[in-house]
Amino acid sequence: MIMRLVGRYRVRTLLLLLGVLVVATSCGWSLWDSPMTTVRPRSDLGRWIDEIFMLISWTTLVIFILVEAALLYACWRFRERPGTPIPKQIHGHTPLEISWTVAFAVVLVIIVIPTIRIIFRTQEAPAATALRVDVVGHQWWWEFRYPGLNVTTANEVHLPVGQTVAFHLNAPDVIHSFWIPQLGGKRDVVPHRVNQLIMTPEVPGEYPGQCAEYCGMSHANMRLRAIVHAQGEFEQWVKTQQAPPAESADPLAQQGRELFGKSACVGCHVIAGVSAGQIGPNLTHFASRKTFAGSMMATTVDNLAKWIENPAHMKPGALMPNLGMAGEQSKALAAYLLSLR
Ligand code: CUA
Repeated sequence: MIMRLVGRYRVRTLLLLLGVLVVATSCGWSLWDSPMTTVRPRSDLGRWIDEIFMLISWTTLVIFILVEAALLYACWRFRERPGTPIPKQIHGHTPLEISWTVAFAVVLVIIVIPTIRIIFRTQEAPAATALRVDVVGHQWWWEFRYPGLNVTTANEVHLPVGQTVAFHLNAPDVIHSFWIPQLGGKRDVVPHRVNQLIMTPEVPGEYPGQCAEYCGMSHANMRLRAIVHAQGEFEQWVKTQQAPPAESADPLAQQGRELFGKSACVGCHVIAGVSAGQIGPNLTHFASRKTFAGSMMATTVDNLAKWIENPAHMKPGALMPNLGMAGEQSKALAAYLLSLR
């Protein structure tokens, strides 16, 4: 009977341990593999931060193992048994006290020197050849302006691999935080001042980002995508962005264009040669972006029609008003926007 009970507890303990192991390793794996991972850096800035993170992690792991080993040894070695005297007390052991104070000071120095070095390195002025990108954090979407290239886009920032980029961060409304985990960061985007974030992307790819400072109702819906282009592809992208908007022969898209010109859309959105509003995202090459509405939704006819019909439902607090469009009208507008390659 007793043996059976012990057996059952052992099975339970083993299962529990197994569960903890599975959860711990899957956490570790998702940390490595998720699109928002910070431990697989894809830029110089990301690498520097990762180096510090790893240095601190390994140092503290070694300390943890040493302390736990000493603790377990002391628990076992000095456990209470009948008849054993109280172990020798070491209060006021001056050499011991000095040595563990010095040991921890050394650990702090090991961590502090590279940390301060990296902090200074990330604050250096960008090279004159750096690509300047002005980042404007709006409630709740990102605007990207390339002043040297005369390109303005939203929610998706395109960068050339291997070239230093200097982000100039500013916000017209409240404080946001610009964060593309695989490329490094984050840095606050603050009204009435311009912060800088400088990095050189090292691997082509698409990296998701997220506003990392609570900024109101749709803070969680304020995402972005960074697209790092392989050599030569960035120039192609710039050329398409600099071109005038495409003209579509599709009758539905033409109907949508007429509707756009007659509605309140023109008051908020730029489409080069069509409208000049400055409040919402520039739509000149809207369909060249894979996502819209704070990078929340894929750019498809259905999503667009839903968005036009009820923006507040898709993104709570969105500034875009409900223009009372439905059915054919929203489909036509969606068709027009999707023609803007
Ligand atoms: Cu913008 Cu949170």
